[in-house]
Amino acid sequence: MNLQQLETVAQAMVTPGKGILAADESSGTIKRRLQSIGVDSTEGARQAWRSLICTTPGLGEYISGVILFDETLRQDTVDGRRMVEALEGQGILPGIKVDTGAKELPGSPQEKVTEGLDGLRERLAEYAELGAKFTKWRAVITIGAGIPTTNCIAVNAHGLARYAALSQEAGLVPIVEPEVLIDGDHGIGRCFEATEASLRAVFAELASQGVALSGMVLKPNMVLSGKEASNRAPAEEVAEATITCFQRVLPPAVPGAAFLSGGQSDEEATQNLNAINASGLSKPWQLTFSFGRGLQAAPLQAWGGEEANLETAQAALLHRARMTATARQGAYSPEMEKEAALA
Ligand code: 13P
Repeated sequence: MNLQQLETVAQAMVTPGKGILAADESSGTIKRRLQSIGVDSTEGARQAWRSLICTTPGLGEYISGVILFDETLRQDTVDGRRMVEALEGQGILPGIKVDTGAKELPGSPQEKVTEGLDGLRERLAEYAELGAKFTKWRAVITIGAGIPTTNCIAVNAHGLARYAALSQEAGLVPIVEPEVLIDGDHGIGRCFEATEASLRAVFAELASQGVALSGMVLKPNMVLSGKEASNRAPAEEVAEATITCFQRVLPPAVPGAAFLSGGQSDEEATQNLNAINASGLSKPWQLTFSFGRGLQAAPLQAWGGEEANLETAQAALLHRARMTATARQGAYSPEMEKEAALA
């Protein structure tokens, strides 16, 4: 492990003015996304969609890194370049999702534990060979009656730290993602508690397993009301709760946190990210984005699986990337969406 190299990559991932695009949907998830626009998830369709993303002109102005799925890291763009090279040509770091999915937690069927440690050391060596510079592992924490359990939080934190240590050993910056899900009708207070408890457990495990905090990136949820809650907390409250939670548990040695969008609408995710960055509360980390749906939903609709819509879809992606990168600087306003629509 070369710590200086890890730190350089981690800092580039959270560099001011840019954020990360998550395009690492697993086979089941990409199938659902493509089905939503009436497209079958064939290898060709996945290649066409992900090529469109990786070759969007100007994307590197707003995006520091793209997280890929195993298939995409090995794939060519439709115009015959390696996806990895298309990204690097724009100064974008290629990353790779390395977990193998969240599976039912024994003894608590409503909860999940993320798998993928077996053979991980060998897979990481291959991913580094193929050009990946960073990795991602996602754990999910569900809020509900009697959950999350301390066991669910503990096993996921342990797995995240095992993965992060192996990733750093292979010279790849780990994105450590303990996602407290938005699903449910709970108030923001329960999300705060679950997020605080999860992050505490994660950082305790990272410390005991010797993970270098300066060579990693956290991918957290924002502290939010549940999706089905009545009177959902507005952006200013989300910002205050999220930063207060981080002040308690997120060590300043971590260069940055890159939020997931987690099923919020595009504008909600952008507005919340903006409020977090515009807040006057003390925040000694870069607070950026690592959105999947929050960046891809609009261009996916614009594309609709038709080659003729390629440029419109790339324009839609660039627009969302620009809006989100502006919010990441605390300089976004919803009027900017309308101005762009009129332009
Ligand atoms: P969303 O932004 O769609 O939540 O996806 C981010 C991600 O990569 C989850 O692991």
